[in-house]
Amino acid sequence: MISIKSTREIEIMRQSCQLAARTLNYIDSKLEIGMTTEDVNTLCHDFIIAHDAYPSPLNYHGFPKSVCTSLNEVICHGIPSTKDKLKDGDILNIDVTTYLKNFHGDTNRTYFIGNVDPKIQKLVKVTYECMMAGIAVCKPGAKMGDIGAIIEQMAHDNGYTVVQEYCGHGIGREFHEEPQVLHYGKSGTGAEMKPGMTFTIEPMINLGKRHCRLLKDDWTVVTKDKKPSAQFEHTILITESGSEILTLDPENPYDPKFD
Ligand code: MF3
Ligand code: CO
Ligand code: CO
Repeated sequence: MISIKSTREIEIMRQSCQLAARTLNYIDSKLEIGMTTEDVNTLCHDFIIAHDAYPSPLNYHGFPKSVCTSLNEVICHGIPSTKDKLKDGDILNIDVTTYLKNFHGDTNRTYFIGNVDPKIQKLVKVTYECMMAGIAVCKPGAKMGDIGAIIEQMAHDNGYTVVQEYCGHGIGREFHEEPQVLHYGKSGTGAEMKPGMTFTIEPMINLGKRHCRLLKDDWTVVTKDKKPSAQFEHTILITESGSEILTLDPENPYDPKFD
């Protein structure tokens, strides 16, 4: 069952989602070569707690940290560690989910550390454009499959591949709700979008092949060919006329200029 959120629920979702976005803005100003992903975790954890929320990943199905930090060939669910130091040329995805007043807000970005190879910069830019293209097709009456179709087309047009094993999801009182939001597939298929639905779009796009491997820690997902992977995520709301991105800080809305 796909839940339809009430006006009151949507207002709280917006607050939780905005806090998640503010956390990503905050960490952006702190990222530096030489810091560890554990440092990133601590900064995000403390920021979320200081704003009266809880970091949803912490203890979620046993996840040991408060955010996911996915470096380079890590596709998703990277575990922050004192052993992983940020170095020049890395790409780092930070995935923040906040739990505020009983509602979750989920968003992630891929950050450049120092000077990144232009080929990898382009992967990150196209991944962002894939997410935004997916968001652009969302409106009442559209089908969930429309999202995956446009994302897959854009990725393939650029010579990239789409990870199929992990997907976006409904979100609200639960971290992961129905429906599943595939980042590939056929337009005109799947559930119909209706006003009041809230879900994430979070494509993982690979420079090489689409296949992935789970590390022995049972969380970290890496590309089989060890080539880089990028991801962006927003939580969105279906409105009467289209969609609203909930995971934007109104004071400083994320709008990257990739050049
Ligand atoms: N935030 C991730 C998502 O976008 C889920 C992380 S689950 C965790 O759905 F347990 F790894 F935190
Ligand atoms: Co998500
Ligand atoms: Co997420």
